Amino acid sequence: MPTKIEKDEHSGTDTTGHVWDGVRELNTPLPKWWVWVYAACVVWGFALFLLYPSIPYGSGYFHGLLGYSSRVEAMKGVAEMHARHAADMDRIASADFATIKADPKLVATAEAAGRIAFANNCQPCHGAGGEGHVGYPALGDDVWLWGGKVEDIAATITHGIRSTDADARNSQMPSFGADGQLTAAQIGAVADYVSTLYGIATPGPDVQKGAALFADNCAVCHGDKGQGNREVGAPPLAAKVHLYGNDRATIVAQITRPRMGVMPNWNTRLDPATIKSLALYVHALGGGE
Ligand code: HEC
Ligand code: HEC
Repeated sequence: MPTKIEKDEHSGTDTTGHVWDGVRELNTPLPKWWVWVYAACVVWGFALFLLYPSIPYGSGYFHGLLGYSSRVEAMKGVAEMHARHAADMDRIASADFATIKADPKLVATAEAAGRIAFANNCQPCHGAGGEGHVGYPALGDDVWLWGGKVEDIAATITHGIRSTDADARNSQMPSFGADGQLTAAQIGAVADYVSTLYGIATPGPDVQKGAALFADNCAVCHGDKGQGNREVGAPPLAAKVHLYGNDRATIVAQITRPRMGVMPNWNTRLDPATIKSLALYVHALGGGE
């Protein structure tokens, strides 16, 4: 039952005049600014409701007056990105390495594409970061079998090594032991000498004899000081990094029957832009010349 509006004696606030079971209601309305903000939100919400996709029905939905679709926007973005990437890859395919290197944007595209292609194709043999495994050379160091200029690397990737490609890099180290060109004792002596080139601490007793045999049989490919020869992919023997392990037993095994690593040619599997990107990526791993 309404009574007359009076002040509450404890808080000093007006009452509304409503009384329930003797309890009187204080008159504390919402602040004006709050009411306006609330009203504005309702109007704003209703506007969004009309402009953008909102009400679902049966087989579809109300598309909104603007016809906006986040899916269409996203697909547009993806298509633009593909177009830009394809244009860059076309330029990489047609430009020479000097031109590519002069354009930081192309280099960035090539190295990104190279990184992905490396992970997909090269990692099983050469390791995730090109660190190499026994028989599969490390690609980030500065010891090169066939050459560390970006053009050399591209040629290696394109045609492969001892692969089926007609232009493959090719060479054969003779099977000195298996073919009887050197006796076991002679092989032991050469291995003693080669061990000194490797820097193995206790090379064996026949270093002098081995040096002479090396000059006669090996220097033609590996160089008179064991410096290697990229023309025939003969690894430097006077180096810290080796293709097959750093112990005398491995050296004896190689002289007896060389393993002759095979690297596939990629020209039948990868397009020229990807091969160039791989060459730039490998070159940038750290050992590029
Ligand atoms: C099936 C294993 C295998 C795969 C896969 C492979 N390689 Fe090789 N790669 C080799 C072997 C083995 C050699 C060394 C061959 C030799 O004894 O000369 C080599 C050598 C190389 C060399 C020459 C290194 C030097 O010192 O001159 C480069 C560069 C190279 N690979 C790059 C690549 C790239 C890039 C890919 C991926 C597209 C790749 N390789 C995939 C096995 C492989
Ligand atoms: C016709 C050229 C040729 C001749 C001659 C030759 N080599 Fe080689 N040598 C190679 C090639 C190519 C390789 C790498 C091949 C491979 O993957 O097995 C190699 C690899 C090696 C390796 C392994 C190097 C490493 O990094 O692991 C050793 C050791 C070696 N040769 C020692 C010798 C000795 C000792 C002789 C002489 C008795 C000799 N080679 C004669 C071409 C030659």
